[in-house]
Amino acid sequence: MLRRFIVGNWKMHKTISQAESLVKDILQMYQPQASVELTIAPSFISLPAVSRLVDSTPIKLAAQNTCANDEGAFTGEISPPMLRDVGCHYVIIGHSERRHIFGETDQDINKKVHAVLHHALLPILCVGERLEERQSNKTKAVIQHQLQTGLKGLESHDFAKITIAYEPVWAIGTGQAATVDQAAEVHGYIRSFISTQWGIKPDQNRIIYGGSVTKENAKSLFQSPQINGALVGKACLDSESFVKIAELATDN
Ligand code: PGA
Repeated sequence: MLRRFIVGNWKMHKTISQAESLVKDILQMYQPQASVELTIAPSFISLPAVSRLVDSTPIKLAAQNTCANDEGAFTGEISPPMLRDVGCHYVIIGHSERRHIFGETDQDINKKVHAVLHHALLPILCVGERLEERQSNKTKAVIQHQLQTGLKGLESHDFAKITIAYEPVWAIGTGQAATVDQAAEVHGYIRSFISTQWGIKPDQNRIIYGGSVTKENAKSLFQSPQINGALVGKACLDSESFVKIAELATDN
């Protein structure tokens, strides 16, 4: 069985000193388990301080975004080599806020996936439909397009390095998580699509769920064999609830 993967996406929260104190609290409370991998994604500016604190602990570091280019005249951007240098293992790519607030396209996302892999970082590719797309039965078509374009040009062996995060847009930050059945159905679809397109065994794809995951609903989500972990937003800003979600991932 794949290890459960719990990722905390801090979004644009926490100053550097607040970030340090959150990480210290998490480190104090968290009892590492072999069956769970815990990762946090602070803002770019907190990465160096957080990296020093999690270095030589089981907690890994992710960035929330990246530029697709290595270096050059890209004012305000951060590149994959910089992220590696600061100690990141993972990079979240194509989060719905990047897609819908900052206008990232599937083509932009595809470039980022390749750039990240090229620099030996591991992508967490987010996909998910909007409410109106779900209501008009377009969920699978939307996800298929996001996967087909976002993962274009990848080889089968790349999939061991890729995590897909299914994050329905209507569930993010709304307090209305997908039901276990809704999430499991889309995870199953993602698995079968990737396995047909790239010839990967379905149970080798790591697919995590995101969108209003809390310590109250995490246990039932983790009971589905389709759900290999969680991408947690709001609930990861509180050390107690984030650590509780990680503990629930070990329980069943
Ligand atoms: P949320 O955010 O848990 O606050 O819904 C999840 C995410 O955006 O990754």
